[in-house]
Amino acid sequence: MKERIEKILKELDELKCQSAKEVEEARVRFLGKKGEVTALFEEFRTVAPEMKREFGQKLNVLKKEAQAKIDELKSMAETAAGPASKGDDVTMPGDPHELGSRHPVSIARQEIINIFRKFGYDVAEGPEIEDDYHVFEALNFPANHPARDMQDTFFVSTGHVNPLLLRTHTSSVQVRTMETQSLPIRVICPGRVFRNEAISARAHCIFHQVEGLYIDENVSFADLKQAILLFAREMFGPETSIRMRPSYFPFTEPSAEVDVSCNICHGKGCNICKGTGWLEILGCGMVDPNVLEASGIDSKKYSGFAFGMGVERIAMLKWQVNDLRHYFENDLRFLREFSNCVEV
Ligand code: PHE
Repeated sequence: MKERIEKILKELDELKCQSAKEVEEARVRFLGKKGEVTALFEEFRTVAPEMKREFGQKLNVLKKEAQAKIDELKSMAETAAGPASKGDDVTMPGDPHELGSRHPVSIARQEIINIFRKFGYDVAEGPEIEDDYHVFEALNFPANHPARDMQDTFFVSTGHVNPLLLRTHTSSVQVRTMETQSLPIRVICPGRVFRNEAISARAHCIFHQVEGLYIDENVSFADLKQAILLFAREMFGPETSIRMRPSYFPFTEPSAEVDVSCNICHGKGCNICKGTGWLEILGCGMVDPNVLEASGIDSKKYSGFAFGMGVERIAMLKWQVNDLRHYFENDLRFLREFSNCVEV
């Protein structure tokens, strides 16, 4: 019996199989009901009692070895054959991975940033939950001033001197930049803003802005006009002209609203520009000396300009989208229209 055990161990050691079928045949030959190893267990019953211990151990080792070898050969045969052995057709087309594309608001936002980067502006960001000081107070909106009603605010906490709120414009980031950065300053502040407004084709309670700030010695209104004109031509095409209309913001003096010539009818008048030939794109002005002083900047030595625009509005004008809500509904048919958009 001893010799037979050793013979089987040797055979197992040298055993090789080419396919799963051969492995199964080997399993039956050694471990099957009538297999060689199984037969030895049958014979074991007749072994003399004083020999049982020694042969019992040997047989158990043999059975384990045989099982391990068969398992090993089985997994080797499966790997070698690949998935086809399980009946898969490897020539079938695979499941396509759908590639997403960037949201039009992200594309427009990045385009605005790229243009101002070329002009030498840095990008600054700040918190969406802000305090009253950075959104209003430091920007020359005194407490209870009616100008605060221009931007209906979502308050997060009320009842103390400097309540927390969702920022209504990214001018708050301009204040933080003036507080912390050395002069001259040339930044743009892209970000999400919040206003308590009814949702319509032209307004939403959440939207995106890019605001800009330039402070140095001898910055004039002519510099502001030139910067905006260059931006408008980069964004809407080299033929674009701009016009400025007097306006009011508490933090700029003088203030202006800027229109670009309608890029659809080229000034002739159409339903997008409501027959005027002009489209409003942003607000701007010379930074009010009070705002500079509130952030510790000497308004006798330094002057600056600021501007702010809504990204959705720019995107609507650029791609002639007539309802702002399209940008928030995530309708794939709408979003796919922009999948091939390349930024300037
Ligand atoms: N902060 C203004 C707004 O949200 C835009 C603006 C920025 C106007 C800078 C003038 C100067 O409406």
